[in-house]
Amino acid sequence: YAHPARDLRPERHPLAVIAHRGASEDAPEHTLSAYRRAIEDGADALECDVRLTADGHLVCVHDRRVNRTSNGRGAVSSLELADLATLDFGSWKGKAADEEEPDLDATSVLTLERLLELVVDAGRRVELAVETKHPTRWAGQVEAKLLGLLDRFGLAEPPADEPSQVRVMSFSARSLHRVQAGAPGIPTVYLMQFVSPRHRDGRLPAGVRIAGPSIRIIRKDPGYVARVHRAGNRVHVWTVNDPADVELCARAGVDAVITNRPKQVLSQLGRL
Ligand code: G3P
Ligand code: CA
Repeated sequence: YAHPARDLRPERHPLAVIAHRGASEDAPEHTLSAYRRAIEDGADALECDVRLTADGHLVCVHDRRVNRTSNGRGAVSSLELADLATLDFGSWKGKAADEEEPDLDATSVLTLERLLELVVDAGRRVELAVETKHPTRWAGQVEAKLLGLLDRFGLAEPPADEPSQVRVMSFSARSLHRVQAGAPGIPTVYLMQFVSPRHRDGRLPAGVRIAGPSIRIIRKDPGYVARVHRAGNRVHVWTVNDPADVELCARAGVDAVITNRPKQVLSQLGRL
């Protein structure tokens, strides 16, 4: 990821497609079912949000509470993994596990550990983009657990001549700096709802090499992509579902799009 600007030419780095919470348009977000689908669909990478349970396990859940995406209630941080394991994270989507061959594992709570197993056993290179959610509350515990797990899977220290299979994303620069301190070889992505005045020229917080703007930023200011590239950094945009937005990102030279519909985006890009 320490690429000079010349390496960002489209013919050398085609637009990568990252499955947001898995193939989350077709399957319940953050379940094995959604991630298996994304891998089958040909996604280059998988995105997931991680939170700590009350007993210190990292699980893939977006919201602070489980209310929207399961049949349970309460904050992830107040529930133990055993409590979460009793919940159904599939039915809310109206597409529970395959009825002919019910697979409860595919729609139960997904631990980051299980997702890492899926990634390393995928049979092809699949990258992983892990987002730390509200990490300040836990004062470094989320990042410490995350790096410990990546280390166990041999993913914390990529070989010097190979790109890392994992990157860590956050809206919190502090969280990214903790990751950089613990694992300097893992690229970090600074997520943005808005570009602050000090980052308008394409620069990023110290040590961060990838900008993660919302698609709304690119719609208003497509020139931001070129400014980030001139500063020697890359651009990963979220959440890019509309074909017009995919085209906008491709034309602007974006490096990766994070999407709920990897299959449709890959098809639009002529990769299927
Ligand atoms: O990939 C970044 C994007 O996921 C950030 O927003 O709310 O979907 O986690 P959110
Ligand atoms: Ca996310």
